[in-house]
Amino acid sequence: MAKTLHRLIVSALVSALASIFFIAPPATADDVSPMIVGGTRASTSTYPWAVYLASTSGSQFCGGTLVKANKVVTAAHCVSGRSASSTRVVHGRDDKQSTAGTVASVTRIWVHPSYRTATSGYDVAVLTLDRNISSATLPLATPSDTALYAAGNSALILGWGTTSSGGSASRYLLKANVPLTSDSTCKTAYSQYSNTSMVCAGFPQGGVDTCQGDSGGPLVYGGKLIGATSWGRGCAGAGYPGVYARIASYNAVITAQL
Ligand code: ARG
Repeated sequence: MAKTLHRLIVSALVSALASIFFIAPPATADDVSPMIVGGTRASTSTYPWAVYLASTSGSQFCGGTLVKANKVVTAAHCVSGRSASSTRVVHGRDDKQSTAGTVASVTRIWVHPSYRTATSGYDVAVLTLDRNISSATLPLATPSDTALYAAGNSALILGWGTTSSGGSASRYLLKANVPLTSDSTCKTAYSQYSNTSMVCAGFPQGGVDTCQGDSGGPLVYGGKLIGATSWGRGCAGAGYPGVYARIASYNAVITAQL
């Protein structure tokens, strides 16, 4: 009798404690980041050159940047082996579930001729649209823009990709800022890092990063497109920054396509 009552009290206490910890967990830095990874919502009215790539059924698979009224820079790994006719570019739509903005068809896909895999560099491509989009465009970094690539510069990342490694994609456009890393920091993380074809960004402790589905999208600093989201080990892990195609290195070949 006393034993049964004791058990009842203990189990009531356990479930009360459990509800405190499991139903209303305290917010800590360890919480799963809701957003890009560690980002917040952004609007395409603020970043009108941020676009996404979609299949004919409307499913978003990568990001891109409008650099001319009918030209989008993206990652080669996003479109390599894809037909132009199966590819759409969505402009001016923050919410993937809305019908806001414009859906352009792609008439031509140029992939850097030296591209093989993202980790070996040359991860850039240019899409030609079937129309001119009346919108601000983002200028490309040039080879003389070396100052834009200084370690510590707080660069902007944007995308509709997953909000954790292996997680589900964001419904909304998200943004975050990440510091550019030095070449030596990135080389330490990744043996495949090349200081001519890539640039890395991320906090030493991780927590903020681009992730799957953000590829091809912009890395912006000083009002210019300095990178296109390319690859990384997982997303947002300490010691593993995101890797971006170094746009300044490809300025000439991209410009030749515009
Ligand atoms: N490869 C990914 C994509 O196709 C992007 C990965 C970026 N990873 C990172 N850790 N920053 O969408």
